[in-house]
Amino acid sequence: MFIFAANIGEMNNINEIQIRYTKLAKTNCCLSCGGAVDKSEPKMGDICVDLGSGRGTDVLRLAEKVGNKGFVYGIDITEEMINSAKSTAEKLGIENVDFIKSNLLNIPLKDNSIDLIISNCVLNHVEDKQKVWQEIYRILKNGGRFTISDIYSIHPVPEEYSNDPVAVSECWGGSITRSEYLNVIKIAGFRDLEILEESTPYDKGSIQVASWTITGTKDEYTCCM
Ligand SMILES: C[S@@+](CC[C@H](N)C(=O)[O-])C[C@H]1O[C@@H](n2cnc3c(N)ncnc32)[C@H](O)[C@@H]1O
Repeated sequence: MFIFAANIGEMNNINEIQIRYTKLAKTNCCLSCGGAVDKSEPKMGDICVDLGSGRGTDVLRLAEKVGNKGFVYGIDITEEMINSAKSTAEKLGIENVDFIKSNLLNIPLKDNSIDLIISNCVLNHVEDKQKVWQEIYRILKNGGRFTISDIYSIHPVPEEYSNDPVAVSECWGGSITRSEYLNVIKIAGFRDLEILEESTPYDKGSIQVASWTITGTKDEYTCCM
């Protein structure tokens, strides 16, 4: 019974997120909350992914940095965002990119296949934070790294907002606290996390949040548990 209710809640959130970002796909307004792409240090030949790639701006910037031997995937749940990103890549003649429509809870990429994952202001939207971090860990190669900008809440978000699809779609209702966030990443298997930037608290909707950019590396050697 509980699982059924959780799925309905997740579907409502996804519908509201798609409604919001369908409208925003045709605007130029800034959707980011940190400098993930600038701080990510891509190398020539890297295979990269941008989780929640929106209109594709960061994917196209990374594509230039990794060169023709590298490749960048953009993944987003909103069809119009994917279409907008594909159309820009086509107009600019950028070929070492692909945009895939998918929920981040099931990333359609192989295990141990990615050198660098970036994401900007997206993971707060995702209902099951632990699952998305497990997916991040799964697709990274050993020695692969992530640089992710996102929002966390200063205090636990009251249920009236965390259960409100509009608040979740506006990048604050679905946020978790700083310590919960770090814990989820560590449970996924990452150690030695580094915080590259962190804001002071600010108001978002009816609560206080902060944004940060965090980086980490999957161990070179992962072995039997
Ligand atoms: C705030 S925008 C950020 C877009 C882009 N990263 C940027 O900085 O411009 C959030 C994006 O995440 C996507 N998104 C939200 N939830 C998602 C999910 N569960 N799976 C995949 N994409 C999702 C939305 O469609 C939207 O394009």
